[in-house]
Amino acid sequence: MQRDAARDVDDLIAMLVASAAWDDLEGLSILDHGLQTAAILRAEHPDDVELQVAGLVHDLGWMHRASDGTWAPDPRAAHDRDGANRVRPLLGDRIADLVGGHVAAKRYLVATDLAYRATLSPRSLETLAFQGETMSDAEVRAFEDRRDRDALVTLRRADEQAKVIGLTADDVNTWRSAIEGLARVSG
Ligand SMILES: [Fe+2]
Repeated sequence: MQRDAARDVDDLIAMLVASAAWDDLEGLSILDHGLQTAAILRAEHPDDVELQVAGLVHDLGWMHRASDGTWAPDPRAAHDRDGANRVRPLLGDRIADLVGGHVAAKRYLVATDLAYRATLSPRSLETLAFQGETMSDAEVRAFEDRRDRDALVTLRRADEQAKVIGLTADDVNTWRSAIEGLARVSG
């Protein structure tokens, strides 16, 4: 397993806890943003725990493992691809592909929903510029062929709503049993 992948549930929780030190927006940490995203998805899709946990971990690509083994922020990250790699061994392909596709979903929505761009936070607009901006027609068609297209759009819209500064979501440990239920046992 690659060094930067979560090894087990405790390691994933440690990565989430460490993400409290890194802001998605000023005053809103990656952890709070993930907790808010997961809570929105739990309310909208109570039976889809994988989608909820994908929301919880979707921005962990901004974290990397430091030389001492702890987790630290990594502002240079290609955070969709890196986030997918960090959770794939533990949480499986569906969650990893949702994490890996959440930037594509933003680019898709910018291309197909005229009102969507106005919902983006300043940081999301800033990162859009180097993530490839709006999708081309060919990219839109390819995205629409994805089996997880609807879940990706749902995750992305929750992502945009989950930026309420000062809103306290659940403690991260309330997600432990859900994560344990999904976690792959590695050998
Ligand atoms: Fe996000």
